[in-house]
Amino acid sequence: MQAYERIMEVSALTPDGLFRGLLRGQGYLMTMVDGEIIVSEDRCPHADFPLSSARREGDSVICPMHNGVFDLKTGESVGLRKFSPLCRVPSRVVDGYVEILVDQPADASAVIESGGAREN
Ligand code: FES
Repeated sequence: MQAYERIMEVSALTPDGLFRGLLRGQGYLMTMVDGEIIVSEDRCPHADFPLSSARREGDSVICPMHNGVFDLKTGESVGLRKFSPLCRVPSRVVDGYVEILVDQPADASAVIESGGAREN
């Protein structure tokens, strides 16, 4: 089962930044493109470099390990060397927080009791 959970306040994001959110040990890359919040797993699809530590150029993120270039809006590899696309994560904004759609742990009731949001 999947449900939306809060990961970061929207006010923490800046229009051209790359941010890392952490949820149950999993890192997520968060950024804004044309005012839209985009969330992906925080790992390069080539060899897992954390892209929140990479460089952003326009609407792309450039992985410093092997110069992979990924379009942040589409997730596609757009550099000279092609890689798999970024692993995008569905997200939404509720009450000033970015929420992401994630698999629930086996004991999902613990998440609900700690204030996690659920999608019905
Ligand atoms: S690890 Fe990112 S391009 Fe190789």
